[in-house]
Amino acid sequence: MNVQDQHEPSDDFDRVKAPPPLTLVVFGASGDLTARKLLPAIAALCEHGILPNGFAIIGVSRTAWSDEEFQKTILDAAPAGAPWPEIVKRARYVAGDYANKDTFDRLKQALAEADRRFGTSGNRVYYLATIPDLFAVVASALAKHDCNRPGEGGSFARLVVEKPYGHDLDSAMALDDALHVAFDESQIFRIDHYMGKETVQNLLALRFANAIFEPIWNRRYVDNVQITVAEQLGVEHRGGFYEHAGALRDIVQNHLMQVLALTLMEPPATVDAQGIRDEKVKLLRAIVVPDPDEAVETAVRGQYTPGRIGDQEVPGYRQENGVDPRSVTETYVAMQLAVDNWRWAGVPVYLRTGKRLNKRVTEVAMQFHRVPHLAFGGRLARDLRPNELVIRVQPDEGICLLFGAKVPGEAFRLRSVNMDFSYARVFEGTNADAYERLLHDAMIGDATLFIRTDEVAQAWRVVDPFLQVWGEEGVPLAHYPAGSWGPHEADLLLARDQRQWRHP
Ligand code: BG6
Repeated sequence: MNVQDQHEPSDDFDRVKAPPPLTLVVFGASGDLTARKLLPAIAALCEHGILPNGFAIIGVSRTAWSDEEFQKTILDAAPAGAPWPEIVKRARYVAGDYANKDTFDRLKQALAEADRRFGTSGNRVYYLATIPDLFAVVASALAKHDCNRPGEGGSFARLVVEKPYGHDLDSAMALDDALHVAFDESQIFRIDHYMGKETVQNLLALRFANAIFEPIWNRRYVDNVQITVAEQLGVEHRGGFYEHAGALRDIVQNHLMQVLALTLMEPPATVDAQGIRDEKVKLLRAIVVPDPDEAVETAVRGQYTPGRIGDQEVPGYRQENGVDPRSVTETYVAMQLAVDNWRWAGVPVYLRTGKRLNKRVTEVAMQFHRVPHLAFGGRLARDLRPNELVIRVQPDEGICLLFGAKVPGEAFRLRSVNMDFSYARVFEGTNADAYERLLHDAMIGDATLFIRTDEVAQAWRVVDPFLQVWGEEGVPLAHYPAGSWGPHEADLLLARDQRQWRHP
């Protein structure tokens, strides 16, 4: 081996890799996720010239649609003027129950037709966008019909699995076992769309492509870490689903754990599927799992009551469609975690997420220690906050550094000011949507941004104790008015350590 090869960065990062010919099979094709996320993402890939010439799409679902009805849904998903109609002509629809052999026989025929007519070369990407109860059913039926292997002349058959991935540790592991009977782990691509967000990936660039941040990225300099996923939206039309999920399963177990892992993990040896995922899982493993009493003390669950978002009156969670009027499902979570490793021992990591909060914002904030001695006197420095580095994941993607400056004038008065980098101001064009990025990665077989089996297990290990205690009688549920920053109890969680939440 040439020594230089080991050190020369690969130019793979520089190019958008063209996917090989393939057929994309979407299960749950008549559903909401397909129309809202998948089809627009495929249309965007098409518009950006990334889809291969040999490409076809097959929708499978129980809804009794014709090819034409599916084609119309696809057409509606693309912006006018995209070279989309060509692709639409290559769309087929298989209506049927996933428990019926006949459904999969017809799917096989459609796959063979795609290979023959559209040059898709026997390669398949199966996308499970069904309800989660059907993930294992579909995977096992695919295997039974020999569809877990590439078709003639093909080199891959991959399975993309949506969230939620299980509803606790045991069910996630049972799902894993069922999928592993049908597909090898290397064929399975578990989606967390937060990993496809440009700014989440920029965490890696910020940390590992700059000399100045990594040396202070540890307990010596960082006082605490605050990660926020705040939404203004309520549960919309998903009340029925949300009743069984709640914010802990819906956001904390997946999106927050992923962002936390990327923020706090060690530098990876290589930026590839193994390098990144090895480090993420190591970090997740180091998170201390609380015992039941600690779980009650270190987390707050909340639920929104009626309130006001902007100039709109909005109902409380218990008044939403599909929600039990006595529901105790949490729409808000705040928690404190500890990471027991050399780098982060003693640094509290605060997570919070909620629906119907004051503002839509996802951000990671590193709050640094205060200076050991402030020579300017308390009164003149009372407007000075600790240094903060904030990575704004969305909206208004960017990075902001908060530091102290002298207020112009005679007195030596100090105030905190911002140094602000905004993606939109510096880079032209809009960021690719997370689903566009992730679908492309699944097509080229790059699993870096997908969740590996051991990561799923570790993330559930962390949230399971909270789920368990919240399932018991008598554990408090705090309430907060829609449009606020969450329940007062969440402020107390930090106040007892003389800290405060940031107000983004
Ligand atoms: C989904 C959750 O995974 O993420 C939704 O199920 C939530 O409840 C959504 O609204 C938030 O995603 P984003 O990209 O809008 O921050």
